[in-house]
Amino acid sequence: MSKVTGLSAKDLLHYGLLLDPDVSRINELKFERPSFIGGHKLKSCTIGAFAYFNAAGMTSAYRCHIGRYAQIGESSILGPPEHPMDWFSSHPFAFTRPHFMPNMYQFEDFARLAPDAQDGASYADSMPMDTFIGHEAYIGVASFIKRGVRIGHGAVVGASSIVTKDVPDYAMVIGTPAKIIRMRFSDAVIERFMKLQWWLYDLAPHKHSVDFSKVEATLDYFDQTLADGKLDLLKPPTYSLSKSADGYAVETLAAPLY
Ligand SMILES: CC(C)(COP(=O)(O)OP(=O)(O)OC[C@H]1O[C@@H](n2cnc3c(N)ncnc32)[C@H](O)[C@@H]1OP(=O)(O)O)[C@@H](O)C(=O)NCCC(=O)NCCS
Repeated sequence: MSKVTGLSAKDLLHYGLLLDPDVSRINELKFERPSFIGGHKLKSCTIGAFAYFNAAGMTSAYRCHIGRYAQIGESSILGPPEHPMDWFSSHPFAFTRPHFMPNMYQFEDFARLAPDAQDGASYADSMPMDTFIGHEAYIGVASFIKRGVRIGHGAVVGASSIVTKDVPDYAMVIGTPAKIIRMRFSDAVIERFMKLQWWLYDLAPHKHSVDFSKVEATLDYFDQTLADGKLDLLKPPTYSLSKSADGYAVETLAAPLY
């Protein structure tokens, strides 16, 4: 595993990562190439190949594991931290630790009031930390996904939805709180999608053999191609990105995320 430091945002294009150097805020990220992040704020996320964020407005994602081909609408908030509702105070002074909020702890006024690092497990340690956005899930603009929720593979979240519960594979949800309006396909077709798991394979060599608007014919083609041993796994180069004093650092990971 090699690590390269001192990279600019433009250099990251070489690794298949598109981000906006003026706007995006990323602390650490594991990504498969290509990943289209644009000008968004990602905190400790993983992103599968071909996943993208709509570029117009700022989306924030916290500890989100975003599948391949996921489509994230602008101005969405994915997996933000929760504060305790039943403590003396829901303010971070009561429940955080220095490693969660270094920006606040750098102020003596805050550190004086807040728990010390040695105070044992914090509230945050007891909460679900990770949020999951499935392969080819489509998140409409201005959506909120509660921390710990799993958005299923192929699921759709309508614009401006507040999602507080898991969304099944290939379900379409809308509203506040989000409810299922329908499934994208029949049960039988969803079962075929889930069995095939096309996102694991390299579809590119087959693009002239299928019409993606024809769902069952395309499933037939890929089922047969897989049975014939002619559908290869997608093995995108995969990297870990972090910020360093002189720019970005990229480390090559040994295996794809999926
Ligand atoms: C959820 C969505 C995919 C559904 O599209 P659709 O299958 O064409 O559904 P329809 O427009 O036929 O709407 C079905 C019903 O849901 C309602 N509806 C649709 N989207 C809704 C939303 N986001 N919030 C609340 N209600 C919604 C419609 O008013 C309609 O209600 P009715 O049956 O009472 O008339 C679409 O409306 C949506 O929200 N798309 C997101 C677009 C987006 O964010 N793009 C960014 C691209 S990166």
